Amino acid sequence: MRLTDEEKAMCDGRDGAAVARAMDLLVRYGEALGAEALVETRNVCGTVTATTPFMRDFAMAKGGLDAVFSEFNLDTSEVVTVPKVRAFSSHLQLGFDPHHPAEMGVSEQVLQFYKRSEAEAARMGVQILNTCTPYQVGNVPTRGEHCAWMESSAVIYCNSVLGARTNTEGRESTSAAMLTCRIPDWGFHHDKGRVGTLGVHLDIAVESVEDWGLLGYWMGDWVQEHVPVVTGVGRVPNLPRLKHFGAAASSSGGVEMYHLVGVTPEANTKEQAYGGRKPAEVRHYGDRQRRETLERINATAHDKHVDYVMLGCPHYTIEQIWEAAQLLEGRKVHENSALWIFTPRAIKEVANRNGYTQIIEAAGGKLMTDSCSAMSRAVPPGTKVVALDSAKQAHYLPAILGLQAWFGTTEQCIDAACTGRWSAA
Ligand code: F3S
Repeated sequence: MRLTDEEKAMCDGRDGAAVARAMDLLVRYGEALGAEALVETRNVCGTVTATTPFMRDFAMAKGGLDAVFSEFNLDTSEVVTVPKVRAFSSHLQLGFDPHHPAEMGVSEQVLQFYKRSEAEAARMGVQILNTCTPYQVGNVPTRGEHCAWMESSAVIYCNSVLGARTNTEGRESTSAAMLTCRIPDWGFHHDKGRVGTLGVHLDIAVESVEDWGLLGYWMGDWVQEHVPVVTGVGRVPNLPRLKHFGAAASSSGGVEMYHLVGVTPEANTKEQAYGGRKPAEVRHYGDRQRRETLERINATAHDKHVDYVMLGCPHYTIEQIWEAAQLLEGRKVHENSALWIFTPRAIKEVANRNGYTQIIEAAGGKLMTDSCSAMSRAVPPGTKVVALDSAKQAHYLPAILGLQAWFGTTEQCIDAACTGRWSAA
């Protein structure tokens, strides 16, 4: 790998042991990927706190974040002192909501450990956003900006909606990038990696959040890791729709970038999206594909009673909380059901100010932050059947927790929470 003089100095220990270990990791990782150089990045989204039970036990046994960071973030058994980060770095979601430890099944000891770990991450200069949607709350990279992000739903949004450039990084590479402002230069950092290769033409109107989730799920299942180009887009989708679309496509497949012609910054025209080439194949998306996708997502569900409704995957926007609060106002969550809604901490502050948190809680629901049921493996006790408005969460919860999952609109989910039954067709 070609290194600049600055990078060689970091490798040689000029900036301390942690930076040298980070450079060593990036060079080994980049060479394994076939990258010829590193690219400068000043925008990183990753995870530095001890988020899993295994890491927490390790940290508690070894004495703190330096040990966890060395072992799990820098891939070295030598415990190095972790310096402040150089890149603007945002913390992604956690394995639990520290403000609802009882619901998450988290002990006081773990909670106290987490609080110390979060303070340590803040001391490093990592922004404690604690969300899978950093682009909602202060981390909005610009077109062409080189980033190093984890979290599949955020990566696809970064590439396709914002026109910034990132591969799907891991805990180790993002941590090394935080300390060095470098990441291997390959894949979606290059123009040629961003060109569309397969086509999807919409024969039907795709309008609601549910519609966009279904389209994303169908598209990801077909294209897997290719870059699809979507034509026939009618009304321009807003942030919640694009959030659900990308999250679904990166769950059923490994899609990291798509082009919506007329929406994606690099797809003003179909020709631009394909980079002047022809797609290998174009498929049409119509009523049959929509219906079959809905049946497939709902394949695990047969009991009509609903124990639990989870909203906020990816983390809800303030617009979605506003909608949920309007649907809930004056109603009560059924005694045999529960409603948890997940959002970033910063957006919960706005929900508090607008009275939405109060409406949700008066109905018997909870507005939670930092995590979700898939990440925390936490659901209300006794849950067997869940209702969701997220294709991504409907993809993961049956596999992770063995639950039955109904997928539908936000309105259908709120109805299910208030009646204890799934009554959508
Ligand atoms: Fe976010 Fe959890 Fe979904 S972390 S994207 S809400 S699986």
